[in-house]
Amino acid sequence: MRLLKTLAIASTVGAWTVIVVGGYVSQTESGLGCPELVTCGNAENAAAAAIEGAHRLVAWAEGLLVLALLILVWRSYRSWSPVRNLTTLGFVLVVVQSSLGILAVATSLSAYVVTAHLGVATAFLAVMVLNAAVVFRGTPPEPAPATESPSGAVESYASAPSSGRRA
Ligand code: HEM
Repeated sequence: MRLLKTLAIASTVGAWTVIVVGGYVSQTESGLGCPELVTCGNAENAAAAAIEGAHRLVAWAEGLLVLALLILVWRSYRSWSPVRNLTTLGFVLVVVQSSLGILAVATSLSAYVVTAHLGVATAFLAVMVLNAAVVFRGTPPEPAPATESPSGAVESYASAPSSGRRA
């Protein structure tokens, strides 16, 4: 459980951090500081590039944290459905959010795209907070007990969603 708790809290704090840095990008009008869509090379304004580059860097780190959480949950906590569903939704949202960020730059900060980027950011944070709350306050389901088959062989439900493994 320790790794699950660590990743759940780290990805929640990470989501909050990316949002705060994103707000700073917007307020300093640094959104077009990085001419390239994904990386941040060939910038003209070094300050704007540093601010927008920091936003992207924290966003990619956050994406990796959520991916690590997703892998852990699907490997070891699959039967804990609220955590599985919230983590999966969080991962989908971080992918959508990063795509909207790239689109925001590609469209020279279209108001529609930037507004969608803000809207998805708030939904993403809500999902990560809820997920961390369930991880910390909820109880993972017990692994299914082993049963005896008609042939006398002991069968377990380890291959069913819950493998019973806990980090
Ligand atoms: C976890 C991923 C991300 C989150 C949670 C996030 C969140 C935010 C937030 C909350 C803002 C402020 C929006 C506003 O004040 O209206 C913002 C701004 C911005 N983000 Fe992101 N962002 C993410 C990833 C990215 C990525 C990957 C890119 C680009 C490759 C990007 C590009 C931008 C740009 C250009 C702005 C400035 C928009 C403006 O000037 O109004 N974001 N982001």
